Amino acid sequence: APLEEVDLPLFFGWFLLSSVQEKVRCTSMDFLKTLDTLEAFKNRRISENEVDLEQYFKPTGALHCTTKFCNYGKAEGAKEYAENPVRNSLYGSAFELSLTALFVTPRTVGARVSLTDEQLKLWPADAEQSSAASLPPGSRAHITLGCAEGVEPVQTGVDLLEILALQQDGQQGEPAEEMELGSLTYYGEGRWLLNLREPIGAPACFSSFYG
Ligand code: A2P
Repeated sequence: APLEEVDLPLFFGWFLLSSVQEKVRCTSMDFLKTLDTLEAFKNRRISENEVDLEQYFKPTGALHCTTKFCNYGKAEGAKEYAENPVRNSLYGSAFELSLTALFVTPRTVGARVSLTDEQLKLWPADAEQSSAASLPPGSRAHITLGCAEGVEPVQTGVDLLEILALQQDGQQGEPAEEMELGSLTYYGEGRWLLNLREPIGAPACFSSFYG
């Protein structure tokens, strides 16, 4: 294809530095391992088969937090986002992301990212649109850590929004366990959220991915 047709990336986002990718992957492995051993989890398994969670979820490449999915310019609002002067001025800059929760559903495992006001300037206005609830901008911010067989990474944000919509709806979930990493809550239908006692600080570069 002529160059001008591929001038927009597949997506923009924050890409975790490789040293911290390792740390986040280890933390998420620890979480899955521990989850697998809990009585509360055994009684509410996310799949019919007795599977090892670490095998159930397949890793999904370099860890990142997508800001705008552009699909090479085909996604709605892609051009506007790419041309935004704030986005332009921050392109290539370093940020520190704060990972505040880990979550698991029958489809995905991910980390919730709590954005600062400066980081929110890079957040597209339509990111939370897919949710029926009206959640504040940045609610969807996350890092996909793994997907079940046949599940696309886009599902992770949908799963997170679903849990946040339940919380907003006043459903506090079932407190399941105090873990070393934090407190674990069950939201039904195989949805688990671990609020981290200590948020993980993750240095990341704001950039884009062409694939
Ligand atoms: P996520 O940000 O949840 O990890 P793919 O490999 O499927 O093309 O996706 C590339 C990246 O873009 C992934 O990180 C993915 O999900 C994200 N992504 C894919 N489709 C969408 C979409 N429709 N809206 C938002 N993010 C998307």
